Amino acid sequence: MGQRQAIGIGLLGLGTVGSEVYRLLLDHDALTRAVGRPLVVKRVAVARADRPRPVPAHLLTTDGWTVVNDAEVDIVVELIGGLEPARGYMLRALEAGKSVVTANKAVLAAYGPELYAQVQSSGGHLHFEASVGGGVPLIKPISESLAAARLTAIVAILNGTTNFILTRMAHSGWSFNDALAEAQRRGFAEADPTNDVDGHDAAAKLAILASVAFHCQITSDDVFREGVRSITPRDFAYAKELGYEIKPLAIARKHNGDVEARVHPALVPLDHPLAQVPDEFNAVLVEGVNVGRVVFSGRGAGGTPTATAVIGDIITVAKDLVAGVRGRSPIGTPVPARVRPIEDVAVPYYLSLQVVDRPGVFARVATVIGEEQVSIASIVQKSRSEIADAILVTHDAPGRAVQRVLARLRALDVVKAITNVIRVQDSL
Ligand code: HSE
Repeated sequence: MGQRQAIGIGLLGLGTVGSEVYRLLLDHDALTRAVGRPLVVKRVAVARADRPRPVPAHLLTTDGWTVVNDAEVDIVVELIGGLEPARGYMLRALEAGKSVVTANKAVLAAYGPELYAQVQSSGGHLHFEASVGGGVPLIKPISESLAAARLTAIVAILNGTTNFILTRMAHSGWSFNDALAEAQRRGFAEADPTNDVDGHDAAAKLAILASVAFHCQITSDDVFREGVRSITPRDFAYAKELGYEIKPLAIARKHNGDVEARVHPALVPLDHPLAQVPDEFNAVLVEGVNVGRVVFSGRGAGGTPTATAVIGDIITVAKDLVAGVRGRSPIGTPVPARVRPIEDVAVPYYLSLQVVDRPGVFARVATVIGEEQVSIASIVQKSRSEIADAILVTHDAPGRAVQRVLARLRALDVVKAITNVIRVQDSL
């Protein structure tokens, strides 16, 4: 940074979050008070030059490398998203000893170890509070305030779009498609909703959170992922009858020798701390040996809340630069984790079947389940003339055993359909 008084900021991206970051950076007095030196935006890279921007023209460029290579830029704020060129920009900035603040969950969840290693070797800082939970502080409290907590579990709602969709299906009786259309209309869900509804977004966020919480290397590929497209109004009706909500969960647990990480819809008891987290809100429950349970919640998306998290990171980095501290990141030197295969993860399951309605049918279904050492906790059966809905909730059962049960049930002539299989989260 030399003897310059001001700390130079380079912005990559001026979309929803980038514009809000720029706006908040204009509050010079508050930032200068927080840091002790002024923060000055030196360069801003945008995808297209032909749109009106709230930024002086001489700061704008369409070439991200101009921002990364500018000698007056001390902190590169990466808000363009996607894997490349974002990863290249971040690596180059770190190699040059600059610091990086990013909201880019995809890059961190895929290439985190490469970036953290670069932080160690070249002395710049890397912070990413905005990558998980939008405006909800998670990375800093988990990596610093709870550093001595020995965290062993994360149970979370990390995707606002799917929480909105499932909330509307549960409480307004909408179909998945109607709820998705409303989420799109309100600007939560993208035109192609794959990233949210198939769990990619939550898997990346969980990989980052688990890596921070458990001090290990978890990537998106390590996270088991199942989307919410298959959930129907009928599932909500039966879940309610059995005393459950259905929520889009992201769960990670640290066991003695391995880590379990999964993203899927789950039935949660009505009195579970996450059961009543509504609409687009996020919530994260962590548990640690030395702290018990701690819950974080708030707005997990949106330009202004996410920009607030970015500014918080910029202040953290700027203070470290002023103090002459080098090479800080919420993840130090993470160790590789052994990931527990989903087949070995034992949880209760909700099985929704359609069976022929005649004597002895239920006994045959129960026999198959019992022979695979899976124990039934509760049953709801509703006759609909020739066919009956049979809804079963099991006790904890390994994924492997449930797959065997399903294969055998499919082969029974009295089972007309397996309409859904959803995991249950009945503890933490
Ligand atoms: N698409 C995300 C969500 C917000 O719905 O939660 C950005 O991380």
